[in-house]
Amino acid sequence: MALRTAFTDLLSIDHPIASAPMGGSAGGELAAAVSNGGGLGLVGGGRGERAWLERELAIVTARTSRPWGVGFLAWAVEVSTVEWVLDQGPAAVMLSFGDPGPFAARVHAAGIPLIIQVTDLDEARRAVDLGADLLVAQGAESGGHGGRRSTLTLVPAVVDLVAPVPVLAAGGIADGRGVAAALVLGAVGALLGTRFQASHEALVDAEIVKAIVGGLGADTERSRVLDVARDSGWPARYTARVVTNSFLDTWRGREQELERDVDTRRAYREAAARGDLAVVSVWASEAIDLITEVASATELVRLIAEETERAFTCAT
Ligand SMILES: Cc1cc2nc3c(=O)[nH]c(=O)nc-3n(C[C@H](O)[C@H](O)[C@H](O)COP(=O)(O)O)c2cc1C
Repeated sequence: MALRTAFTDLLSIDHPIASAPMGGSAGGELAAAVSNGGGLGLVGGGRGERAWLERELAIVTARTSRPWGVGFLAWAVEVSTVEWVLDQGPAAVMLSFGDPGPFAARVHAAGIPLIIQVTDLDEARRAVDLGADLLVAQGAESGGHGGRRSTLTLVPAVVDLVAPVPVLAAGGIADGRGVAAALVLGAVGALLGTRFQASHEALVDAEIVKAIVGGLGADTERSRVLDVARDSGWPARYTARVVTNSFLDTWRGREQELERDVDTRRAYREAAARGDLAVVSVWASEAIDLITEVASATELVRLIAEETERAFTCAT
């Protein structure tokens, strides 16, 4: 029994599961593997680095004939880059963090679904005004950047606010029980990020995968410290959930001081370039307790879909 929802119908896919467009780590291999498993694989276009996108979109188009998409950071990407990607045949484009306004008409003109990830109700209202075909309501349990609301409360509030526009849940979902919970909350599926970081196909350093698989949710926190340290340019309202490290312990609550401390930030960037895990950002979900092994993303989609169906069977 496959679970059909407005999401699986909209994208013509088998399972109500999407992989997050994680900048730099969700390349063509990962997106294709997720799509081949029957979910929606999203390439992490991030800020829109053209050479990276050319390489990874060539991979995804070669590896799958199923629908795939691309996601971007709205605060950082150029309209011309999104236009170029639209010519490469994605089945959907997703925009997160910042104002998606400049891109909406272009995506609609390409005749494909516009997906907008939101972190609160104001962003959800704006997404609907722009004609989003699908929203992702992202809670603060999520790995990487995001807002302050919890998934359990944000998802149904967004569902009610934007109905009949469909909504995916994101943030702290790493198995079929989480996807089933998302469906019960009124979502039409779930978007998972960190779970797919620990897959064979993600472009992630082995040490980072080890930190995710061996880590606990209690070892993660939302913070701006590492963004300040690396001069990332991220808008201050979006903190990132990371695995706590000694640099964070030293600078927690001292972000303004760190902004003024040029030498420490230079030393940070040098240590991060060496991959020193005492400083580097390991973006990870509060759900890492549930991630205990590295797996193939295609298998993960099938397994999570089965778990989702079983969760409903057991509940009745
Ligand atoms: C390593 C990492 C990188 C991410 N990069 C992006 C990104 O570039 N663009 C984006 O829209 N979301 C990004 N996200 C957030 C995801 O879209 C998604 O909301 C989040 O992973 C869901 O929470 P989960 O990690 O608990 O599954 C990232 C998440 C992680 C873990």
